[in-house]
Amino acid sequence: MKITVVGTGHVGLVVGLCFAEIGHEVGCHDTDTAKIEALARGITPFYEPHMDRLLQRNSERGRIRFFSDLEPHINDADVIFLCLGTPPLPNGEADLSSVEKVTRQIATHSRSYKLIVEKSTVPVLTGKRIHATMQIYGGSAPFDVASNPEFLSEGAAIHDFLHPQRTVIGVESERAEALLREIYDPILRQSFDCPIHEGCEWKGRSTPLVVTNRNSAEIIKHASNSFLATKISFINAIANLCEKVGADVEQVAAGMGLDSRIGPSFLRAGIGFGGFCFPKDLQAFCHIAEKNGYDFRLLREVERINQLQMEHFFQKIKNEVWVLKGKRIGAWGLAFKPDTDDVRFAPALAIIEKLLAEDATVAAYDPRAIKEACAALPSASHRIVYCQSAEQAASGADALVIFTEWNEFLHADFARIRESMARPLIIDGRNMFRPEEMRRRGFEYISVGRPQ
Ligand code: UDX
Repeated sequence: MKITVVGTGHVGLVVGLCFAEIGHEVGCHDTDTAKIEALARGITPFYEPHMDRLLQRNSERGRIRFFSDLEPHINDADVIFLCLGTPPLPNGEADLSSVEKVTRQIATHSRSYKLIVEKSTVPVLTGKRIHATMQIYGGSAPFDVASNPEFLSEGAAIHDFLHPQRTVIGVESERAEALLREIYDPILRQSFDCPIHEGCEWKGRSTPLVVTNRNSAEIIKHASNSFLATKISFINAIANLCEKVGADVEQVAAGMGLDSRIGPSFLRAGIGFGGFCFPKDLQAFCHIAEKNGYDFRLLREVERINQLQMEHFFQKIKNEVWVLKGKRIGAWGLAFKPDTDDVRFAPALAIIEKLLAEDATVAAYDPRAIKEACAALPSASHRIVYCQSAEQAASGADALVIFTEWNEFLHADFARIRESMARPLIIDGRNMFRPEEMRRRGFEYISVGRPQ
């Protein structure tokens, strides 16, 4: 089927490439001409495992193309996926101006039936607004508006898209449902040739489809992200209690997670959640709830616990190092999580800014996100040194702080690192190591929610 994807960010590009991979003919639009030109030359704008290969394969077989002028392409396809940014406004509300602008463009130029599918995370009732905008600015061409929230997780986005735990479609007409069922058929039946797993274990196993009305689908997305964020804040709150009473949060999480009603995932205590989804989605969900007469205090508390967790971790560093001024702090990990170069709302950057504000020098290393961190921390750039390796970041440091649990840190040469540090102190914000193991290796080792 022919599909247009509007927006080539972390969602849109993955969606476009994966639709092409399962056999559709995809046109991707973005207003950023430099990005579109680079994509047309086979250069991806951010790191995501497997993305380069999918771009090359599908460009070569002519299944994907890129354009920066939307209007001439509006009638290329019957189905248009909106994968536009919905960043937070200062009051926490989602900024839907791009969604509105593109909807008006579609309304004005549409000459035949269109199914407009909201894919980016939007507050409930956005579909209704898109529908109204189409009626106000459109001509006589028929249309439907559907919601099809995306649950992909950065670093595993292509895997998550191709082998989803569920596909949710929120529709108001049989025609919209039929089109979306057809588009997703290869994924629902897992009938495509998987490009990322040899001898793919999902082959032929069907994946669930949830069909709801549009408002419910919109809420499923915000509710899912908020629930996961709640789990993280819950375990971080438990970690704080564990620290006070000498319990071990890792053991507590393991003991809780074996209950299938709770489950083990998203119970990793740490320095708080970040990224472009959880923090902004929580705020937007609270905001839309309030606008509709419900004060979502539970989620405000989830957000508050997350802020406090970053502050608590900063205080932990300060408590160990004592005077930060003039100290050299090695920083491992800048991205908001491993396997991505995304630093948006990364707890690492928030805590590093606090360290810099107290006149510490930060020697930072991340396997992927240095360029992005450089751009995000420009004002402090004179006291932050970006390093080529994990070992270099640790060298000469008065403390080594682990912000992101990249796999390569597990295999670092700790004997050499201990020798090279001014003080062999590791403050691990992700509980990557066993305390007794690190002490045996000669480090003072501080982590989150575990007995010191
Ligand atoms: C999230 C959702 O998982 C995904 O379904 C949705 O579509 C987009 O938002 P993402 O933001 O890519 O995905 O990352 P995720 O793996 O969920 O992690 C978010 C943050 O929570 C990271 O900062 C991570 O370090 C933190 N986290 C996660 C924890 O601190 N503890 C955990 O147990 C899990």
